[in-house]
Amino acid sequence: MTVGNALNLSADEVLSTTRSVRKRLDLERPVPREVLLECLELALQAPTGSNSQGWQWIFVEDAERKKALADIYRTNATPYLDAPKPAFGDERDLRRPQVVDSARYLNEHLHEVPVMLIPCLEGRADKAPGVSSAGFWGSLLPAVWSFMLALRSRGLGSAWTTLHLVGDGEKQAADLLGIPFDQYSQGGLFPIGYTKGTDFRPAKRLPAEQLTHWNGW
Ligand SMILES: Cc1cc2nc3c(=O)[nH]c(=O)nc-3n(C[C@H](O)[C@H](O)[C@H](O)COP(=O)(O)O)c2cc1C
Repeated sequence: MTVGNALNLSADEVLSTTRSVRKRLDLERPVPREVLLECLELALQAPTGSNSQGWQWIFVEDAERKKALADIYRTNATPYLDAPKPAFGDERDLRRPQVVDSARYLNEHLHEVPVMLIPCLEGRADKAPGVSSAGFWGSLLPAVWSFMLALRSRGLGSAWTTLHLVGDGEKQAADLLGIPFDQYSQGGLFPIGYTKGTDFRPAKRLPAEQLTHWNGW
């Protein structure tokens, strides 16, 4: 099945409305592999340092493995979500209850999502001599975001998550999925599903003007 940009959104609409989808992931509707591969083909157009393309993409559909990954995620996410967070002191504080509520929902339902993605990059970020962490992750994360944009333009959604990686979590996930832990780093865990409705809006962000510097800090 090839579905392309099924929603006919403009590039700017896709860029401004690709949200973290948690409560609006359709947990019942299966996601065909063809759609995932189509999104991945687009994502692989992203840049990598020296055109290295040292990435591997692990999709998990198996119910037992999804449950095991969700358990790893929960071990870290539950205390994180329960812990008090320092205030930003600006409008970001207003949206926080909504974000936490949504994140709690995902924490509870993660094992139910149709597909999970763990994108991996060759090497270990902390053991790459002569490579900064920006240089390392810069060869994976642009493609991951492209993948999320491609999902959005086809009526699917995801949420960027990293909490399963904390502590022993990355190693446990590696052992579960057979990822060679010493040779590959995991970039996150991405729940994937069709979205319930396709009407997503731009988020309120800090204004660009407040964050911009011209010709120096
Ligand atoms: C590096 C990174 C790590 C994140 N980790 C998590 C996570 O572990 N769990 C989660 O529910 N959301 C996670 N998020 C999603 C953020 O909470 C979300 O992007 C933010 O609240 C803004 O919401 P929006 O993406 O809908 O605009 C993460 C996002 C990023 C970029």
